[in-house]
Amino acid sequence: MLTTRPVAYLTRRHTEAVEAAFAEHFEVSVNVGDVPRTQSELVRALDHCDVLVPIVGDPCDEALFHHAPCRTTLIANVGVGVNHIDLSAAARAGIAVTNTPDVLTDDTADIAIALMLMAARRLGEGERLVRSNGWHGIAPTHHLGRTLRGRTLGIIGYGRIGRAVAARARAFGLRVQWVGRTGGSAMPDREMAESLETLLATSDVISLHAPATPETHHLISAARLAAMKPGSILVNTARGTLVDERALAESLRSGHLFAAGLDVYEHEPKITPALQGLENVVLLPHLGSATVETRTAMGLRALENALQWFSGRPPQDRMI
Ligand code: DGY
Repeated sequence: MLTTRPVAYLTRRHTEAVEAAFAEHFEVSVNVGDVPRTQSELVRALDHCDVLVPIVGDPCDEALFHHAPCRTTLIANVGVGVNHIDLSAAARAGIAVTNTPDVLTDDTADIAIALMLMAARRLGEGERLVRSNGWHGIAPTHHLGRTLRGRTLGIIGYGRIGRAVAARARAFGLRVQWVGRTGGSAMPDREMAESLETLLATSDVISLHAPATPETHHLISAARLAAMKPGSILVNTARGTLVDERALAESLRSGHLFAAGLDVYEHEPKITPALQGLENVVLLPHLGSATVETRTAMGLRALENALQWFSGRPPQDRMI
């Protein structure tokens, strides 16, 4: 049967609600096995679909766009970060790109706070102790963590998620300071730190919320880790490339940092082996937006962008 409906290529499975909603408007190519697509599968997809719907795990780099012009006119990414998409190469190939901001802010901020608590209170270690039958009852000096109350949280990147983390942290009794873009606000903000260096030197917990760009690659370098307060904690729910993981492992091993909480990795999904052997790092599998509600909202937001594009209106979340 010939169809005039545009074809949407979903690189991975999505929640039932999202797949059903796409199917109402598009001919949908679903990844039934839910295994990551290879580069050559993605290249082929560009030739037979109108909209590619990838996630952060699908590298859409320059090589993908080499054989342009192709059939695809839109990449409707499910996720706010688009560091896996070469935006200039997509633009040169005449392909528009959209993302899904806003809808994942709260769940991602929750995970940052969860990692702070897990790292400060040594919750991962405690869980491993109980599961391995190594726990023999409560004792006043056993398994002591550090309290967050009264400490200073330094936020690097003060966009939607950074601000949502700040609001939660204040409720936990943390003082907040931040560095990042001011969004052009003329209002002086007493929580804005003088500089990144000041923030590193005066925070007990640092939480990363900056995008992955060439400028932020290894933003947290060996030198910057050394500049952090002894006994402090690093949390990363943004992108793994912001942190030099080998230097982080060394800083955790030496005891300069008390602990770290990571949801994202430099070579995701590979984990730097030196980190895996450490007790004082919490390692989560990129769970920031992983709730039924948020993943559904993200998929539906990608769909909205695609519907706007194919009805000739400007998509609300157009990046290029
Ligand atoms: C994003 O939206 O960029 C997240 O990291 C993926 O869930």
